[in-house]
Amino acid sequence: MSALRTEHEAAVESALAALDLDTKVSILSGQDMWSLPAVPAIGLASIVMSDGPIGVRGTQWSAADPSIALPSPTALAATWDPELARRAGNLLGQEARRKGVHVLLAPTVNLHRSPLGGRHFEAYSEDPLLTGAIGAGYVRGVQEHSVGTTVKHFVANDAETDRFTVDNRVSEKTLREVYLAPFEAIVAAGAWGVMAAYNKVNGTTMTEHAPLQRDVLKGEWGFDGFIISDWMAARDTVATVTGGLDVAMPAVGSPWGRRLADAVRAGAVDPELVDDQVRRVLRLAARVGALDGVPPAVPAADRPAAIDGDALARELAARSFVLAANPRGVLPLDPAATGTIALIGALARDARILGGGSAFVFPPHVVSPLDGLTAAGLKVEYALGADPRTKLPPATGPQWAGLTATFRDRDGAVLHTTPLGSGRGLWMELPAGVDRDNLATAEITGRLTPAVTGTHELGVRGVGRFTLTAGEQTVFDGALLPESSDPAAIFLAPPEQRCPIELAAGVPVDVTLRQQVMLPEGFAVVSLTLSFGEPTASEDALLEQAVRAAAAADVAVVVVGTTEEVESEGFDRTCLALPGRQDELVARVAAANPNTIVVVNAGSPVELPWADDVAAVLLTWFPGQEAGHALADVLTGAAEPGGRLPTTWPVREQDCPVLGTTPADGVLEYAEDVRIGYRAWDGAPVAPRWWFGHGLGYTTWAYEQLAVDGAEAVVTVRNTGARPGRETVQVYADGRLAGFATVTADPGRTATARIPLPERTFQHWDGGWAPVPGPHHVTAGPSYATRPLTTTL
Ligand code: BGC
Repeated sequence: MSALRTEHEAAVESALAALDLDTKVSILSGQDMWSLPAVPAIGLASIVMSDGPIGVRGTQWSAADPSIALPSPTALAATWDPELARRAGNLLGQEARRKGVHVLLAPTVNLHRSPLGGRHFEAYSEDPLLTGAIGAGYVRGVQEHSVGTTVKHFVANDAETDRFTVDNRVSEKTLREVYLAPFEAIVAAGAWGVMAAYNKVNGTTMTEHAPLQRDVLKGEWGFDGFIISDWMAARDTVATVTGGLDVAMPAVGSPWGRRLADAVRAGAVDPELVDDQVRRVLRLAARVGALDGVPPAVPAADRPAAIDGDALARELAARSFVLAANPRGVLPLDPAATGTIALIGALARDARILGGGSAFVFPPHVVSPLDGLTAAGLKVEYALGADPRTKLPPATGPQWAGLTATFRDRDGAVLHTTPLGSGRGLWMELPAGVDRDNLATAEITGRLTPAVTGTHELGVRGVGRFTLTAGEQTVFDGALLPESSDPAAIFLAPPEQRCPIELAAGVPVDVTLRQQVMLPEGFAVVSLTLSFGEPTASEDALLEQAVRAAAAADVAVVVVGTTEEVESEGFDRTCLALPGRQDELVARVAAANPNTIVVVNAGSPVELPWADDVAAVLLTWFPGQEAGHALADVLTGAAEPGGRLPTTWPVREQDCPVLGTTPADGVLEYAEDVRIGYRAWDGAPVAPRWWFGHGLGYTTWAYEQLAVDGAEAVVTVRNTGARPGRETVQVYADGRLAGFATVTADPGRTATARIPLPERTFQHWDGGWAPVPGPHHVTAGPSYATRPLTTTL
């Protein structure tokens, strides 16, 4: 044990010894939505937590407190680079420190079982090894700032339908080899926290799952950190404690507190169990610097150097973009030789940079593809083409001035007011001066000066009673009802009421959206959005305009993708088709211009029926706040597209070997066992569009040599193209990913990847880990589909 560890353990024991039972149980539940209570008598500060995977929201979920937004987790995994994941973690650790956050509620390491999973974008991959490696890099990076992580959601929370109750039935072998494997790898890498999922596994809800939490995680794997419930996932006082849960979040709904103390006094809970829980919370406190008298796990002087978040977000995005098809080599574009680019699509102007739900943050700024290509000096003609959004975007942009949120009491007196970057207002804790008793209304106000004359639309988004006025006119006065019973969906993807209004160009109008706030029991959530739509041409006319712009340009770049209504938390996707008329848009643009490059702005797979008819397809995931700069870098060749698919991409939804996310009678059978992802596609009647691991760069590679030397594979590749490049070398053992590494080489030169093969490579679960009898086929190549080098052991 290191000296610091010994010091921490001694401090934990002496703090524990100073606590009575009631104080002990008090620190096991939230004091509010995001923090644990302080105990000044033992020098314990309040431990503050925040989502989420791509940015640190902080406890105030508001545009007034923005957060660097990195690309989506699928994008991070597409880099296949645990070192880059570690740098992402470093940035998030830095952000957490800046915002006074001790624990980041991330990473999400559930697997891509079905592409219909609503939070697919928020998880890494279909492969346990890749997921574990990226997650481990990320966790190391965050914790190097002495900020904790909670690897989530333990376990088998791979879809959203009925997520609070679904019973996922998974065989022991499948759990061990597939769904538990990333958690095991990340715990071995030193994670300080794990979050227990909402769902059941094989009949037992995860927060009460003694065999998985106590026996496997804490017992077999020797996890010394804390297990926290997903928000409101802890329901039973005794079963959660005996099942191995340590912290119940948030305050509302916790089954502990007095009830836990009573259960101990009544002999229903062994006091030793409570001591173990408290030890784990105190150990966390010591690690993150919230326990007086001991230094944090990483003292401030030893933390990573400051990172420029904008620069990292841009680099990471470019490294994650997967060039899936480029048959004629249209990319990279030569900026000097490229005339006009027709840039087409709603998402080219209003970039969708992140997925919805608890992963959402307010970024300080967003560089859209239109901004990025223009800033790179490219000659761009923009056309909307088709808008896939079924809801209006929040009010923002040059036509709006003075967007402000104001909280008032019953007499209309101002309690709090804050400027907003957009018409989206979201608070998960009430701002200073506002409380449950004095709050009556929340308002978003702004002055709109229309650019054109015509029928505009103002939109109200939220749940509850609203009044919307524009000047003297009341455009809406009524109630909006929830469309879901999942709180995440109610607050993060609420219903919308659109109100048409005639406005004249240049004539300003003051707009006020007012909500009568009714706080739900125990929650201090305020969510209201003032949205806005300008007069637009008809859908047919928009398509026509885009086709004309494409025909007149040298190159057409069409940005298509999903919307907040498609990829978010609290619901699964209903299909894999691109929403709206985007497929028709691409097909018509491609017919008008042979140099049509399609940029797919989606966090997870979508059907691309025109993929064989366009000049290039670039998959950009949800690319984070620097989306447009990274896109310009990759289109012009200033950066190589570095991404490789972390998940197999189907041609059609119905081809997917594993698809279902809807339980039958409360049960979702993982009937395919270990065969998810490429292991399921291999042998499926229809081939996918692009296999796991696929992705092109701007040079070409020859795979020259593979040798397996003990626990290491050594692969030599040669850059056979004309540019320096980076290659992601993949090694498979008996058809499963066993290791990978990225290498770089100049034209004509070779590079050697030395890839460690973990102990598990030649093992399987057979009631315990056991060697798989040989011979073993080890292969290497640039994707699952292309493995030119083979050796047999
Ligand atoms: C999500 C978690 C998240 C938590 C707190 C839950 O609904 O499933 O991933 O960390 O909320 O926001």
